[in-house]
Amino acid sequence: MKNPPKKTVDIDGVTFEMRPNVRNATNPEWVCLRKPLVLVNRYLALAPKFQGCRMIEVGVDQGGGTSFLLKLLKPQRLLALELSDEPVPGLVDFLAEHDKDQCVDVHWGVDQSDTEAVPRLVDEAFDGAPLDFIVDDASHLLAQTTATFEMLFPRLRKGGVMLWGAGQAPLSL
Ligand SMILES: C[S@@+](CC[C@H](N)C(=O)[O-])C[C@H]1O[C@@H](n2cnc3c(N)ncnc32)[C@H](O)[C@@H]1O
Repeated sequence: MKNPPKKTVDIDGVTFEMRPNVRNATNPEWVCLRKPLVLVNRYLALAPKFQGCRMIEVGVDQGGGTSFLLKLLKPQRLLALELSDEPVPGLVDFLAEHDKDQCVDVHWGVDQSDTEAVPRLVDEAFDGAPLDFIVDDASHLLAQTTATFEMLFPRLRKGGVMLWGAGQAPLSL
């Protein structure tokens, strides 16, 4: 049987290969994007409206999503929070190459349900300005996800978007 064709999207010199169930390292010119086509299409459709946005990504892992969001949305600021306290070298290298203006601020070792750290980091990053775009792709557990929602959703501007990346089932408001 033939292998299925690879699903890729090229943005600004970087190839993002959609492999929802694969956990490969991020590289400066090729990124394993752990998102299915249906979810990537949703991001592509939203992209024109959210260029230069203020945004948060919760749950970084190897940084495929962070890299994709940086290239796709060219955010004014992207605050990324990750439970693991070990910076991922592939993402660090990617950002050194592609984020010359240092728009991306990754905080390692942050629990998405930490009601002291999360609001403090958001205040530091955005200084009270409303958020345009929020992605929660972290624990996918009810209590933690609810805590994040309660902290971040009130900071979303009217017309902003909050997405949950849950494998094959993206949800948005
Ligand atoms: C599905 S992966 C994220 C994938 C990434 N967004 C992407 O697009 O490539 C989930 C990540 O959430 C992190 N995580 C799990 N529980 C968390 C929590 N309570 N707070 C913050 N991050 C958490 C995990 O360590 C893991 O790196």
